[in-house]
Order: sequence, then structure tokens, then C-alpha cells
Amino acid sequence: MSRQPQAAVGAPLSRVDGRLKVTGRAMYAADHDIDGVAHAVVVSSAIGRGRITAIDTRAAEAQRGVLKVITHRNAPKLAYRDNPASGRFPGRQLRVFQDDAVQFFGQPVAVVVATTLEVAQHAADLVEVSYDAERSATDLTRSPAQAGPAPFALPYARGDAEQALASADVRKELTFRTARNHHNPMETHATIARWDGDRLTLWDKTQWVIGTQTEVAAVFGIPTENVRVLSPFVGGAFGSALRAWPHVAVAALAAREVGRPVKLVLTRRQMYFTVGYRPAYEYKLTLGSTRRGRLTAMVHEMKYETSRYEQFWEANKALGQMLYAVPNVSQNVQIVPLDVSTPLWMRGPGYSNAAFAIESAMDELAHELDIDPIELRLRNEPHEDLSNGHPFSTRRLTECFRVGAREFGWNRRNPRPRSTRDGDWLLGTGVATGCYDVFRGRAEAHARLDADGTAVVQSATHDHGAGTYTSMTQVAADALGLAVRRVTFRLGDSAMPPAPGQGASQTMASVGSAVQDTCDKLRQQAVTLAVEDERSPLHGVAPDDVVVRGGRLHVKGNTSRGETYRQLLARNDLTHLEARGSYAPEPEAQRRYSMYGYAAMFAEVAVDAELGLVRVRRMLGVYDAGRIISPKLADSQAIGAMVGGIGQALLEHTVTDHRDGRIVNADLADYLVPVNADIPALKAVYLDGEDYRADPIGVKGLGELVQIGVASAIANAVFHATGRRVRELPITAEALL
Ligand code: MOS
Repeated sequence: MSRQPQAAVGAPLSRVDGRLKVTGRAMYAADHDIDGVAHAVVVSSAIGRGRITAIDTRAAEAQRGVLKVITHRNAPKLAYRDNPASGRFPGRQLRVFQDDAVQFFGQPVAVVVATTLEVAQHAADLVEVSYDAERSATDLTRSPAQAGPAPFALPYARGDAEQALASADVRKELTFRTARNHHNPMETHATIARWDGDRLTLWDKTQWVIGTQTEVAAVFGIPTENVRVLSPFVGGAFGSALRAWPHVAVAALAAREVGRPVKLVLTRRQMYFTVGYRPAYEYKLTLGSTRRGRLTAMVHEMKYETSRYEQFWEANKALGQMLYAVPNVSQNVQIVPLDVSTPLWMRGPGYSNAAFAIESAMDELAHELDIDPIELRLRNEPHEDLSNGHPFSTRRLTECFRVGAREFGWNRRNPRPRSTRDGDWLLGTGVATGCYDVFRGRAEAHARLDADGTAVVQSATHDHGAGTYTSMTQVAADALGLAVRRVTFRLGDSAMPPAPGQGASQTMASVGSAVQDTCDKLRQQAVTLAVEDERSPLHGVAPDDVVVRGGRLHVKGNTSRGETYRQLLARNDLTHLEARGSYAPEPEAQRRYSMYGYAAMFAEVAVDAELGLVRVRRMLGVYDAGRIISPKLADSQAIGAMVGGIGQALLEHTVTDHRDGRIVNADLADYLVPVNADIPALKAVYLDGEDYRADPIGVKGLGELVQIGVASAIANAVFHATGRRVRELPITAEALL
């Protein structure tokens, strides 16, 4: 097949859906205007653990407009069929209104359905719940870990780390702690549910329409194909919408009970109790090194929180195994079951916490050995993935640091901590490595080329901010040889060809490759039609010698011999051509390469010497992320992640009152996130190049990679500015006084 000219891919296109978004015409879950919709408001538990002894719903039911109050006393038994396809965590998910148990503060204990939102809100306040409360445990540092390792967190070892530590020139034993963080997307989670007989339609905020479809079908015990999930726009999620949370089942149950469509929008406060969070970690890292800075051993002991009913897992071990050339490694992961709701992956899941520990420790080692922190990393650059012996598909971390050091002016740095001042401000710079796996999943797509020379391409993927509408349009436009404005990409509907959830940065590699495959097939159909058609100017040309550009098929290198799609279809009396294509990663057993994206993160901070206030002054990220499909979208990923990383480093902290498990700062006034005034000049640079071993379009994924290492770079800069090492996130003013 001849290679198509690439015109749209690589161009700094503005979002094709940008106008819809800024004019308010993009339809988010709760925006859909469904005839006869009733409103549901969830009543949340006011204890952290125990039993419901009584629920008095009479006052609520007496309100005019209240259609029904559903509690565990009157709710029907739901099927909660096993659903292996859901990617669920080991354990048993929360079953809504199926018994009197309260397992965490803020658990849904009732739902009020009314004709208006205001009546439902008021009536929800009137529901009286009595409890038999027990003492809840919500503090990671004071609760016992689950006995024995979880099946997904088996210990790892290579070499003999204990022995190597005992004989190391330098040994450091460090304990890091990271706070629980909440995703806090702008759009709150919301679901509209409508039953038509035994068929259910959900307009839902989700990063995984297929996941929600199978999960809700399992909850109600109905065939998967009876559920359709629509999610054309998502107002941010950062991972929180990667599973169907209990409120989705509540909305569907309420709609079935009242015989009307029901809309359920979580309040901002409820967003802190039932839709996941980045779990708190305690991460003990012991490392051994030679005097010359060659790592000899690393021992990782991690502990993180999960709920009592599910064992949350995330990828927190990879970095410790493959990032540096450490001959002796051991890893132990403990999970601590608490009276909390189950966590869920948040941007850079697992890797982010591990990177904070590893990259802070590298900085401590560099300081102790008096070696430049970049140089220390270069001295420990591996030649292969030591966890499996595979070569790296591409690994250009060294180049990221070299390019970054030049761009950032790293060599102007005085390595001595607390050596640079600007008035009352102590200045410091820091670096850290970022790294994330190239996840990929099976994806399918469909494309249709119409007689008017326009095309519609679709896949059941998502756009929770990544810019999928735009990037897929670019890939499709080049593969079809059409101008971007002639291509429409559709997503967010479980009835479309299946795609993975939009998580783990796998969308571009997976869906992008499926879109390219689909559009290649469609273009080839048109080319075959032309070269076999005696009336075509391309008759008899070898298919491989035909390319398509601007909707016109022509001989490669001879633009005058050809015809347009429109001419070709019209002459053949065709209304359209269509094709279906797919992408599937090679099975694990056949994976011959270790595939990761890499980043070098640089930060400069100023710390008020008297007040301990930390201000980030500038940041630079240099990325080895493979091919960049859309530079403008890439910047919005990278810069957005630096903003998020500044939050993680300095501000974000979900505070729990351990007396009853209540989250104290469950609103955006008290849960601190960076605002414009916190954000300085941020710059992202991408190394040219592609990784065709990773996938057919050469990308390595960007959304998580750009988040990992940001907080460590800032923490290391804080040390350089002040000489104070803070091993706990967020780094607050108190810690620096
Ligand atoms: Mo991302 S945490 O995989 O949405």
C-alpha cells in the first residue's frame, strides 16, 4: 500500500469541537433534554461504618412532587451478576440499597425522586436516617495492612538486595508519604437513565461507554445489548469516570421504579465520597550505591489505602524495576483496607507515587555524592529492561535531559543548596525523570465515504479533554486523503465499534491505529474501484502507485492523471463506500520490546525564607513520547499536567476526620487546586521521532507521562532552594518553617 502524504497529522489544529464547547452547545451528560425527566437526589450516610437502624421517609414522601423515596427497605433485589469484563477490583462492589450496612462516610443510603430538582433536594434533606455507628478506621498510617500480598501485588525480587545494601558504599533509607488526592473534574458526575421496555439508555459521564454498558447490564441482569450508553462530551475526569460508580445504578434503578426517565447529578460534595481518588501512600525506599553513583540496590516497600470491600490495584512497581540499571531490587506492596470508598486511577496512576519516591531519592543521593542529579541518572541508564531482558522499543531519556538542560540553562546552576537568593526569596532548581508504559488495547472503527466527498468515521471511544475528536479527525483525514473539514469523527456511543476506556494513555495508540486501518481500507477500496474501472483515468495503474490528496486520487508523482472520489462514486452510481477496521496489540507472550514514554522534568521555585511559601517560577518538560499527532493538543496535555503536578506537589490534600471518616474539605473552596496566579511560564518540548514498534501510528501515549515526575522536580527544587528535604506531599509552608 502506498504511503499517504501526511498533511493533517502534525499540524497544530485547533479543536474541531472547540466552537461547540465555548458556545455551550456541547452536550455533557446532564445537558441532554429528555422528555418527562424526573430528578433524583442521593441521601448520603452520615457515619463512616455501621448499620442503618431506621429510615423515616414520611416527611419526604409528603412533599408535593415527590415520586418515590428508595431505600434498602423498599428497593428490589438487583442481579449484580458477575461481570469479568468490567475490569473490577477483587472483592465485591458496593451494591446499592441491598442491605443496611454502611461501609464508608457518604455512602448512598437513599434516593429521592421528584418532578423537580428543587423538590428532590428539599425532600432529601427531610429523610431521617438513624444508625448504629461503629468506630471507623480511615488512617493509613495507623491501620494494619491486609495479611499476605494481594494476587495483583506479589513481591518482586532480582539479585540479592539485602546483601547488596549491606555492602554498599552509600545506603539511604527514606520514607515518603503522599496525601490522598481527588480528581476534581469541572463537570460533576451525572447520569440520565431512560427505560424503553426492557431496554435502557444512559446518558452518562464516563471514560468507558463499553465498561458502563456491561456493568449496568450485570447489575440489572439484562443482556448487554439492551443497554446503550451515550457520552459524547466529558468535562474532565482524570480517571474518575473509568468505572460505573454506584450512582449510575441508582439512576437506572430510580428510573425503573418511577416509570420515567431520571436525571441524577452528584453534588460537588458528593464528588469527594463516591467517585474515587488517588489513594494515600507510604513508600519506604532504601537504596544502595557506589561512591561513583552506580546504584547497587533498591528496596521498595509500599503501602496504600483501599476499601474493605474491594482491593484497588494500580501499576506502582514498573518504575522500580525498569527505570534505572539496578542489579538488585526487591519490592513489597501492602494494601491497607479501611472504612473508605474504593480509590480509582488518577492521572499517572501508581507511577506518579512511585516516581515521587524514586526521583526524590535520586536527588538525595546526588546531593550526598556531590554528583549532578542529571549526571547521576545518566550513570544509571540501563541498556535493556532489567525486569524482563527485553530491549527498549525506543528510549531517549538521555536526549530528553540533554535537550532540557540546554533549554533550561541547567549548567548555570550553583549545585549548593540555599545558595541563590532574590530578595526574600530563596531560589532553587530541580529535575526528575518521568516515565510511563505504552498501554494499548483492542479497538475497532467504522468509516463511510459519501458521494459528496465527505466522510464520517466512528469508534466507541471518548474525549474527556484529550482532544480525541480532533486527533482522530487528523489521522482519518490523512489516511483518506481528505481535507480535515470534510471528515467528521464520532465517539461516545456504546453502539459504535468497540474501543477501550479512555485511560492509561492508550487512546491514540489503540483507537488511532484502528482509525488508520479503517481509513486505509476504505481508501484502498476506492483505489481498487478506480484502477479496475475502464472509464477511470486511473484504469490499469498499479494500486500501489495511487495516492489520494484533497479528495482526489492520482498517480504518485503525476497529479494530472486522476479523478476525485466524487467523480468515481458518481460514475459508479454509488451513494457511499464503507469499511471497518481494527487494531489489536500483540499478545503479551509475543511482546519483544519494552515500551515506555520518557520525560525530563525541570522546575524552578522560589521559597519565601521567612514564610515558607513556595512559588513555582518556571517549568520545562522534554518528552520522548513517539510521534506527536497534534502539537496543540499535546501542549494542552503537557501544560495541564504540569498544572496538576503543581497541585499535587504543593496544594492538593484530601483531609479526612478520622473520628468518623468524614472528608473535611469536600468542596473546591477548601480542597486547594492551582489557580492562574499559581501558574508561571510552562514549556513543553517533544523530541522528533516515532515508535512504530509500539503501534502502527508510532505514538507512545502522552496523557499520563506528562504528569509523572512533575511533583518530584518541584520537591527537588524546593530542597535546592532551602536545603530542607520534604518527603511528604503536598509540601506546605509549615513543613518549611
Ligand atoms: Mo487516566 S488516570 O488513565 O484517566
